Amino acid sequence: MHTTDLLLAIESTCDETAAAVLDRERRVRSSVVASQDELHERFGGVVPEIASREHVRRILPVIEEALARAEIRLNDLCAVAVATQPGLVGSLLVGLTAAKTLSLVLDIPLIAIDHVEAHLYACRMAGGDDVFPAVGLVVSGGHTNLYDCRSAVEYELVGSTIDDAAGEAFDKVAKILGLGYPGGPAIERAARGGNPQAFAFPRTFLHEERLDFSFSGLKTAVLYEVRGVPGREAQAPELTEQRIADVAASFQEAVVDVLTGKCRQACEQFSYNTLLVGGGVAANTRLRERLAELARSASLRLIVAPRELCTDNAAMGAIAWEKLERGQTSDLDLDVTPGLVRATR
Ligand code: KG4
Ligand code: ZN
Repeated sequence: MHTTDLLLAIESTCDETAAAVLDRERRVRSSVVASQDELHERFGGVVPEIASREHVRRILPVIEEALARAEIRLNDLCAVAVATQPGLVGSLLVGLTAAKTLSLVLDIPLIAIDHVEAHLYACRMAGGDDVFPAVGLVVSGGHTNLYDCRSAVEYELVGSTIDDAAGEAFDKVAKILGLGYPGGPAIERAARGGNPQAFAFPRTFLHEERLDFSFSGLKTAVLYEVRGVPGREAQAPELTEQRIADVAASFQEAVVDVLTGKCRQACEQFSYNTLLVGGGVAANTRLRERLAELARSASLRLIVAPRELCTDNAAMGAIAWEKLERGQTSDLDLDVTPGLVRATR
């Protein structure tokens, strides 16, 4: 094996501490993800201060585990990559500090990754190097973004949520229904026994041309349905298991309607026939079914990220190879950019 063919990618943008060893063919030699779900569960969402402290505790063992599983040593690495944007500032800084230290000590190139672009690159890893140009949708706890993906390194944001992200809505609705955290998988399970037509929840912007999203009205509609409208809480019907299932299924259907509808509009607007979908919410079975239906009816090539590459991980950091091959490396004064890089059009 050529020792120059292995890259270490580090991911610590939110509440997962992750590291992966990736070869030049974009194959995953090892991928380690330490989830903090159990630490944030009782708060129903990620607490930034807890997240960054845990990253500090876990980052070195996670890197060591990734090297051990790939059966290599630090000296075998030819580059180190890290997600520097967007994310929680304290969390991002832990990964960046680890990556800079390795770059300096091992004297290897440092590569900055955009976490959201990496979510889309997970589709390239599954679909091959001919997936671009394409429309890209990233749906996660922090993002609901549509991209014009011109190549493996050119992603232009063309639409995003104006309030909550889709995954955030899943998490908040799960909390309203008492289903636990993270909400996505819990809602998906509860929805299996429910009627998706039981409640007509709002589908914001669905019939407008703009490629933006809004989920906070949907979340409020669910809240009023479950707890009663303000001032009339006493009239709210009992929250039986069947009612929970019906609300979960109707909510999920509303989110999926909007996500698939906007993907269809974006493919039409850009005249693209490839659709890439990544991020934690892309693990949702109903969304995957409806995207497959869309792809059939609109003759699109659909690539949804494999489930293990949907939620946060470092393997999707294979996008760093694209940058390394183009000489796009960073100096040691590299900084983090917590906010989302906005659309230019
Ligand atoms: O990509 P990710 O791990 O982290 C962020 O970058 O935000 O996404 C996590 C989000 C959470 O909001 C979680 O509830 C949601 O993805 N999620 C799901 C499913 N699995 C995870 N949402 C719907 N259905 C799922 N099966
Ligand atoms: Zn993510």
